[in-house]
Amino acid sequence: MQKVWIVGSKGSVGVALTKLLDMRKYELLKTDKEEVDVTDKEEVRSYAAATRPDVIINCAGITDLEVCEQNPDLAYQVNTIGARNLAVAANEIECKLIHMSTDDIFSLNSPEFYNEFEEAKPKSIYGKSKYAGEKMVQSLCNYFVIIRSSWVYGTGKGFVQQVIDAVDSQTPLRVPVNHYASPTSAKELAKVITQFIDNDLFGIYHAVCKGYCNRYEFAKAILKYLGKDVELIPIEEGNERRPDYSVLDNMMLRLDGLEQPKKWEVALEEYISGLERN
Ligand SMILES: NC(=O)c1ccc[n+]([C@@H]2O[C@H](COP(=O)([O-])OP(=O)(O)OC[C@H]3O[C@@H](n4cnc5c(N)ncnc54)[C@H](OP(=O)(O)O)[C@@H]3O)[C@@H](O)[C@H]2O)c1
Repeated sequence: MQKVWIVGSKGSVGVALTKLLDMRKYELLKTDKEEVDVTDKEEVRSYAAATRPDVIINCAGITDLEVCEQNPDLAYQVNTIGARNLAVAANEIECKLIHMSTDDIFSLNSPEFYNEFEEAKPKSIYGKSKYAGEKMVQSLCNYFVIIRSSWVYGTGKGFVQQVIDAVDSQTPLRVPVNHYASPTSAKELAKVITQFIDNDLFGIYHAVCKGYCNRYEFAKAILKYLGKDVELIPIEEGNERRPDYSVLDNMMLRLDGLEQPKKWEVALEEYISGLERN
């Protein structure tokens, strides 16, 4: 039985992964910052040495762009140093490290798809700290997979929840029309991640739902599937911190013949109908 350590298990991706992994097939170790703080090198190393997982999945991170801008030290501590600590620990016990990353490492303002080999040029502290984390993983860990995704939603966090909150309070929501990416459900992303637990593939992979839209279109779709309404105010937002277009191409998943996430509208409808059932 494979032993899988999910780091950052209380976040959107960590929760989706926990739900997906078959308890009969994998032995799951789940930690968040209360159990193992990724910024603490010794804590990470001793937990890894004591439990000896076959695969570590790093879903921990400071993912709020504003928090990262306001507290760069915290962003680098978790997103970069945390990645380093896990990379070193994974190497020491010779296990595979699956590390999550983001479209925010790119910055082009033309409508191009980014494959895994495009040059990264992050603008925000979040993007810079995540890119530095990727480099730590690549340079310090022998067996790594880096999975980059975009606009991830799940477990009551992220943009879908923001729209639901606006509906509940009937507060008009200002939504950019000039930012494009692929909304991706944490569940679809978790399905991609699980393929790497059992296979022997390594390297950088993009994993986003099929198709893309702007934030305004994303918000309209959320309202459509909720069957509810709130005023949406279309705005043009600056692109100092994010590129206008950050649409990822899942080229490596395609070339390796791996299963890819669904169309973004289908995944979104599925997620929202799941919310209504609970
Ligand atoms: N969300 C997106 O749109 C998106 C897009 C692309 C890639 N990603 C990447 O995917 C990964 C998971 O994202 P997510 O959406 O699941 O993020 P999330 O919901 O913010 O979850 C991150 C988890 O990490 C925890 N954490 C923070 N500091 C920690 C520390 N020092 N030690 C251990 N755990 C710590 C957080 O706890 P607290 O909440 O208490 O701080 C949270 O439970 C991240 O690497 C992120 O960069 C996310």
